[in-house]
Amino acid sequence: MHAWFSNDCFPLYLAPMAGVSDKIFRQLCKERGADVLVTEFVSAEGIFRRNERTRRYLDFDEIERPLGVQLFGGNPEHMAEAARQVIEWVRPDFIDLNFGCPVNKVVAKNGGSALLKDCPLLGKVARAVVQAVAPLPVTAKIRIGWDDKSVNAVAVARQLESLGVAALAVHGRTRAQGYSGSADWNVIAEVAGAISIPVIGNGDLLTPADVAKRKAETGIAGAMIGRAAMNSPWIFSQTKQYLATGDLLPPPQPTEKWALIQRHCELAVDECRRNGPSPEAAEDLAMRSMRGRLMAYSKGMPAGKMLREKFQHVRTLREVEEIAQVHLVTCLEVV
Ligand SMILES: Cc1cc2nc3c(=O)[nH]c(=O)nc-3n(C[C@H](O)[C@H](O)[C@H](O)COP(=O)(O)O)c2cc1C
Repeated sequence: MHAWFSNDCFPLYLAPMAGVSDKIFRQLCKERGADVLVTEFVSAEGIFRRNERTRRYLDFDEIERPLGVQLFGGNPEHMAEAARQVIEWVRPDFIDLNFGCPVNKVVAKNGGSALLKDCPLLGKVARAVVQAVAPLPVTAKIRIGWDDKSVNAVAVARQLESLGVAALAVHGRTRAQGYSGSADWNVIAEVAGAISIPVIGNGDLLTPADVAKRKAETGIAGAMIGRAAMNSPWIFSQTKQYLATGDLLPPPQPTEKWALIQRHCELAVDECRRNGPSPEAAEDLAMRSMRGRLMAYSKGMPAGKMLREKFQHVRTLREVEEIAQVHLVTCLEVV
């Protein structure tokens, strides 16, 4: 079994995030210490269509290994066949099963967290995929239950372990919670105590100290970080340093953060140009889709409100460069 699915190396995972954890962002996080990467979720049915969009979701570079492709769907045979095709097509290091997505469109088709309400079907999906791709490992990501009256993470975890799933990520919220309230780390700890495959804890890990606390208190074998990485991909290297030495690395300097933001924008525009119509249209398209990402980066930066107002309308790389120049001068004046 691969080292990152053992109980003793404490890998840091970048959480799969649709519309966020694309190839560019995964690589930016990898450069800053993320150990294991997972693609955005991909529909099993989308795999059969092999359209351009699906191809983009599955695209990754060798440097991203170990990398898992996350699949969702509620039909065991289709999930197994899709997993086989993915392996033949892009050869990931593992397949990850999404049993946590709360989105109506996915749940309505028996995908994602809907399967937490139908454990026999969840078991059939897991068994079919494990058998189809063996010896390649299959991991799963769950929420703790459908709602607070049906928290069944321990039972689901035992079931998945018995079916040969290699590691389990647990987001400590129910489906009903969406992203509100807070993650229940008591349930995550119960799961970690109940099964012997690695349990990767997920939910509201915002700082290196959060990860250290949950590691010490819950028996998790690794941590998965999502939204905090959208704000600061440095969280991975900072957490590693903190876990190893107890030292908190200083936050990145504003110049370093701006260098990352600009690089992210440039890579997004390059990628869009490779697929897009004219260079100008590609830049416009890419920068519009970067707006949400820029908002996330700006949280916690000095004069963040002013930045967010500007980012709402940004359309070119040149504009981002100008915003950065003005902001850096303002920051220096404040210092
Ligand atoms: C924008 C966004 C997209 C997400 N997409 C996925 C997804 O495709 N697959 C998945 O398993 N979880 C997805 N999630 C959930 C995250 O993987 C993670 O479980 C959740 O954000 C909690 O972790 P955090 O508090 O560190 O952000 C998504 C979350 C966000 C915010």
